[in-house]
Amino acid sequence: MKNEKSDSIQINRRYLDSLVIEGRIVGAPHPSAQVTVLGKAFETPIVPGALSHLKGGMAGYAEGARLAGALCSVGMGSVEEMDAVYARNPDVIKIIKPYADKEEVFARIRAAERLGAFGVGMDVEHSIDQDGDADSLVAGFQMKLPTMDDLKAFIQSTKLPFFIKGALSVQDALRCRELGCAGVILSHHNGLLRWAAPPAMLLPDIRKAVGPDFILMADGGIADGYDAFKALALGADLVCVGRPLMDPYAQEGSQGVAKALRQMTLELKGVMARTGSKDVKHIDPAVIHPIHF
Ligand SMILES: Cc1cc2nc3c(=O)[nH]c(=O)nc-3n(C[C@H](O)[C@H](O)[C@H](O)COP(=O)(O)O)c2cc1C
Repeated sequence: MKNEKSDSIQINRRYLDSLVIEGRIVGAPHPSAQVTVLGKAFETPIVPGALSHLKGGMAGYAEGARLAGALCSVGMGSVEEMDAVYARNPDVIKIIKPYADKEEVFARIRAAERLGAFGVGMDVEHSIDQDGDADSLVAGFQMKLPTMDDLKAFIQSTKLPFFIKGALSVQDALRCRELGCAGVILSHHNGLLRWAAPPAMLLPDIRKAVGPDFILMADGGIADGYDAFKALALGADLVCVGRPLMDPYAQEGSQGVAKALRQMTLELKGVMARTGSKDVKHIDPAVIHPIHF
């Protein structure tokens, strides 16, 4: 039933709020929030989420990530809009829609390669309507849930690292690894699946199943540095932040995005300092506790 209880955004919020953090301040090292992703260094593990239809366009959004030294992901857009994005910031993972017309997918993969993108991906979760099993129409384009063979063809068509967005289980993550993905973005895309298990809840099992080298990005409901810390502690390599960057971008453009990312990163570093976490790879999951009142 569609109601507040089944709203995955709220379930996710309640879950993150149910986790508390133990302090390990005595003799704690000064932390670094820098991360290395597939050999490339970034200033923060916080990645602007794949947003589209942004007032101001995706190019300025991606530039905001560059100013903050962050890897960026971007959403739906034409090949022409992608030219503008990559011109301002090539360190972008382009999340391509699951277009029913596969040539739309291949054209975007080729554009990403031509322009030196960091990677490509596909939000497979956006191929199905929330209220039924019909393939959905997004911004006038027909979508289709890709088969394993379709995904294999997309992934094998490029040397760029490929990330599937919408994976939300151990099974999905293992299938994506088998398909040759560099990683997955754990996401329910703002509640497309109602009653969705919060990504942070699934992270420890998924990390255990896929091992240390498969990239896990937690997406959805990360509102500040504390949420980011919890997801990183539970097994994410990176966290995506989408909606919280929309107002800063609307108000102050690229500088607003950069400022918000820097602020969240500072907050994350503050928690890292208070938990003895010297860097993102060394956050002990045992500092996170479920709260029982
Ligand atoms: C305005 C808007 C546009 C979005 N466009 C896309 C898109 O084109 N591709 C995609 O993969 N996700 C898209 N998303 C989903 C986000 O990437 C993200 O999964 C979702 O908003 C949850 O993260 P958040 O809580 O940090 O916003 C969009 C979300 C919003 C709010």
